[in-house]
Amino acid sequence: MVLLPVLEGLHSAEAFNPAFLSAFLERIRVIEGNPAGCADLLRGKVVATVFEEPSTRTRLSFEVAAHRLGAGVISVADPKSSSSAKGESLHDAAKVIGSYVDLLVWRHPRDGASRLVAQAAGVPTINAGDGRLGHPSQTLVDLYTMYREWGSFEGRTVGILGDLRYGRTARSLAWGLSLLGARVVPLPAPGLDWEAGFEERVCERSAHRSVRVSHDLVKSWTGVGEARMLEPQGWTQSHLFGEIPQLEKLDALYLTRLQSERGAQLGNGVYPGLTMEQLDNPLLEDCLILHPLPRLSEVPVAVDQDPRARYFEQARFGPWVRMGLFLAMMGPDEWSMPPLTALPAGSSDHQLGPCANTNCITRQEGVPVPWRIAGRNQRSFLCAFCDTRIEVAYVGCRSSMRLHPVHSQAVMKIRPENLRPFADRVRAKVDGYIWAGN
Ligand code: NCD
Repeated sequence: MVLLPVLEGLHSAEAFNPAFLSAFLERIRVIEGNPAGCADLLRGKVVATVFEEPSTRTRLSFEVAAHRLGAGVISVADPKSSSSAKGESLHDAAKVIGSYVDLLVWRHPRDGASRLVAQAAGVPTINAGDGRLGHPSQTLVDLYTMYREWGSFEGRTVGILGDLRYGRTARSLAWGLSLLGARVVPLPAPGLDWEAGFEERVCERSAHRSVRVSHDLVKSWTGVGEARMLEPQGWTQSHLFGEIPQLEKLDALYLTRLQSERGAQLGNGVYPGLTMEQLDNPLLEDCLILHPLPRLSEVPVAVDQDPRARYFEQARFGPWVRMGLFLAMMGPDEWSMPPLTALPAGSSDHQLGPCANTNCITRQEGVPVPWRIAGRNQRSFLCAFCDTRIEVAYVGCRSSMRLHPVHSQAVMKIRPENLRPFADRVRAKVDGYIWAGN
């Protein structure tokens, strides 16, 4: 079986699937049980860790993982010490560093940077955090921490609390949990919810639906007594009729800090965190307390003594998880993994203008936005780098050269390779498309 290399790395937790996640989590248990058993398996390989944003745990745990496997490591730990400080493009830096090594681990402040790095470098790349978008290897660490306790995610309910808008670990975790069949309760700090459309994409992919639940603790965190809960379809019937049910229990609560370096600003209210008093609430009776770290005031130091606190243990698992990733991407055949679900590569053949996301990597690099379609209905066009929705009003078919409004039935019948999105009819006409009407 050929595995992760076909994907040129790991960019988004959207690429996870249940087969990969189950095999991977079990593999990490094996590595944790006998780390010496994989010493030297990557002798002769060299990994580059390039961190254009601060990092402690992520960079060091990738590096220690490489050392434990016998691989060499070269590192840019501070962007001021590399040519990006001289204005070199990300494309050029990735192409050059990629030509020195077998695998790249890259962190960057721009959304979608990792996909551009992989394209430019031509070697497998692991996204170690790109802007607010994603941090999939952290999700594997988070999932492993829960997996070790629970074995299965079925029937488990996990709250994700804090800055969902700018928190990349929160966004990636929502994919991972839902793909494993867990219930996810997004608990956004006031004004810091996910962008429109994100949750719908997660639900569509994992066959979850969004129901409403209520609880006093929810109100004390988000300022609103009700929350959405994403649950596997057909899970319970009680939501179909009557009142909004009470949230019964949380098996884990994942806290995150305010990402102020990305411009995150709290709406009206207080940034949510845990208090010692809340720990006595029955909702949290058997609840694992998780955090990707670094923490600010959302988890008081006194919580460290509580038997439910898991965040330092979670950080300790970072190297095992990253060893598993390196082995899956560069190791001997017996360490390979079921393939990830490839995200469509995207096409930049359009006149749709720049990406609406000012922090998209395409804005920095001055490259055209590649679009991809998301979901089954072919009507949702996303930037293939940063997943931001692209406004498309009309869709042409490259084979019939007919043009349709994006919401017409005809669009669903066009084969993906024949789709050509347009913002207006004038441009489509110039390109030779004939209006087919509704
Ligand atoms: C996170 C990150 O960098 O996104 N930290 C980490 O990787 N452990 C979370 C954060 O910085 O808040």
